[in-house]
Amino acid sequence: GDPRLEAISRAIRVVPHFPKPGIMFQDITTLLLDHMAFKDTVDIFVDRYRDMGISVVAGVEARGFVFGPSIALAIGAKFVPLRKPRKLPGEVISEEYELEYGVDCLQMHVGAVHPGERAIVIDDLVATGGTLSAAIKLLEHAGAEVVECGCVIGLPEAKGQRRLNGKPLYILVGPRDVDDCY
Ligand code: PRP
Ligand code: MG
Repeated sequence: GDPRLEAISRAIRVVPHFPKPGIMFQDITTLLLDHMAFKDTVDIFVDRYRDMGISVVAGVEARGFVFGPSIALAIGAKFVPLRKPRKLPGEVISEEYELEYGVDCLQMHVGAVHPGERAIVIDDLVATGGTLSAAIKLLEHAGAEVVECGCVIGLPEAKGQRRLNGKPLYILVGPRDVDDCY
């Protein structure tokens, strides 16, 4: 395996019972404080996607905005923000997705991507895969080809694969165990 992944995993902090009891929150802000781990995270994605003819890096609000733009700049692609409702000022297309309780929605600007463009979707974490599935649908609705979804962290309950509409999912590390944290 890639020796950088161990350090990336160690730089992720688990915050127990946030934002509510029972949730072991995987906090990437500590990864961002570690220059080497942050750079390695971006570099691993860049090495993977640089020669794949990708012209679109779509990042999911909010934590996909942390990694997506750096990857886009490095591989010579555009960055397309996929945002929560009523944040984008222009004409949008929308895709709803299910949460544990209730429903949320992602939006993308009309005209941001063109038919036939090759896209990747970047986010910090995949759990159920609902968020990434919505992202895939937005891009496909605009005629883009989604090559892969890339996430820093994949939870085991990421029945992700099944809900990713057949698109490959690339995950750097599993969830950090709270017992390993300082
Ligand atoms: C979290 C995380 C992923 C999503 C994963 O975002 O950053 O985007 O949940 O969950 P899923 O695979 O079950 O869809 P959240 O919606 O909490 O918002 P944030 O990124 O704006 O904090
Ligand atoms: Mg998110």
